[in-house]
Amino acid sequence: MLIREATKSDFEKIWPIFHEIASAGETYAYPRDVTKKDGEKLWMEKPRKTFVAEGEEGILGTYYIKTNHAGPGSHVCNCGYMVPPTSRGKGVATAMCEHSQQVARELGYEAMQFNFVASTNEGAVRLWQKLGFEIVGRLPKAFKHPLKGNVDAFVMYKWLKT
Ligand SMILES: CC(C)(COP(=O)(O)OP(=O)(O)OC[C@H]1O[C@@H](n2cnc3c(N)ncnc32)[C@H](O)[C@@H]1OP(=O)(O)O)[C@@H](O)C(=O)NCCC(=O)NCCS
Repeated sequence: MLIREATKSDFEKIWPIFHEIASAGETYAYPRDVTKKDGEKLWMEKPRKTFVAEGEEGILGTYYIKTNHAGPGSHVCNCGYMVPPTSRGKGVATAMCEHSQQVARELGYEAMQFNFVASTNEGAVRLWQKLGFEIVGRLPKAFKHPLKGNVDAFVMYKWLKT
């Protein structure tokens, strides 16, 4: 598996992954009816960089990295990861998260923060904890899950400097 920076033309293959995950409304705070154009802005244009994980089968996953807050918060980055159901459970997100921490350090960030992890996204929460992220905050009922109603959201954080 190769993790490389995404090009504009990769979005054609990223969009079905993004669309399935965003429209399910269970894991990301994106509008469920997000358009392709807005999806491209959110995933490819607003972030500082976007990457794809590629195997022989094609794109196995994607992530972005961006600055979480300006000014005094600008040493903390934020990332988002998406792996389509057919590629899950094979370590793609693990590899992308480790890669993103390396990229973050190279870009000069000192910490990584996930702002809005649905508490119902148990696989993801466990995975981020395994990779060294701590739950540092709980936003009660902040995530409106389409099936489970208002559930808590976690803020997860990892200091990257040793
Ligand atoms: C969360 C997500 C990125 C994980 O991707 P992945 O490539 O399957 O993750 P990996 O294969 O690297 O890691 C799997 C590990 O995480 C756990 N895990 C992750 N997602 C899981 C899921 N959907 N169901 C069960 N376990 C899951 C497993 O326990 C496994 O741990 P193990 O290695 O100890 O068995 C992927 O499920 C996804 O894209 N989900 C939808 C979008 C999303 O939730 N993004 C994260 C938002 S915070």
